[in-house]
Amino acid sequence: PKFWAVIPAAGVGSRMQADRPKQYLPLDGRTVIEQTLDIFLRHPRIAGVVVAVSHDDAYFPSLCPVTDKPLQVVDGGAERCHSVLNALRGLEALAHPEDWVLVHDAARPCLSDDDLERLIETLRDDPVGGILATPVRDTKKRATPDGYIAATVDRADLWRAFTPQMFRLATLASALEKALEDGFMVTDEASALEHAGHAPRLVEGSAENIKITRPEDLRLAEFYLAERRR
Ligand code: CTP
Ligand code: MG
Repeated sequence: PKFWAVIPAAGVGSRMQADRPKQYLPLDGRTVIEQTLDIFLRHPRIAGVVVAVSHDDAYFPSLCPVTDKPLQVVDGGAERCHSVLNALRGLEALAHPEDWVLVHDAARPCLSDDDLERLIETLRDDPVGGILATPVRDTKKRATPDGYIAATVDRADLWRAFTPQMFRLATLASALEKALEDGFMVTDEASALEHAGHAPRLVEGSAENIKITRPEDLRLAEFYLAERRR
């Protein structure tokens, strides 16, 4: 089986409060999405990439990613999971149902080659697949509605879910469809697989694989990428 990447990039970035969607903001000499795309376009294991962008996106056409791999662009949807489903529809023309799909947020440009390689190597013989994640390090509190501590939550079995999230094309598409049909709230691909009765694996990755959500995240990403160039 081959390995394909799906990059949802159709969000508006409301929490970033910038003049454009955050994936098109500059980061270490390029845009955020160019940094992200390049990780997959360069990686020898990845057969091709499908990107989901907003139907009225004004920025993607002016980028010129250099690649000899298939790079398909599809319309995104109202929620991230709709964008991913549209991309999987596009991928069905290129890929086999048993091929692996790695879904990765456009807004996560600090994924390292090592983490990507380890995710693939760890899961390639797995019956289901799984996700990059990192154990929770801070003490966790459950809050009351008026802002007091109701309880301290045991963090021993708590992980932060990152992307890529790697599953077989057919399994992932049917899990997402079922979740939407059932009105299940899909927060990431793994949650849809869980809803369908699967147990995805947690593959520990670097905490540097942050999602750019707020302005301070962009400053941190700038630091990580500049540091790696040194
Ligand atoms: N995304 C998408 N389609 C949507 C919503 C989000 O493809 N309808 C993508 C975003 O472009 C991003 C990734 O999913 O790469 C993670 O989503 P998030 O960080 O929530 O991005 P936004 O939705 O753009 O940001 P916000 O929630 O602050 O508006
Ligand atoms: Mg969002």
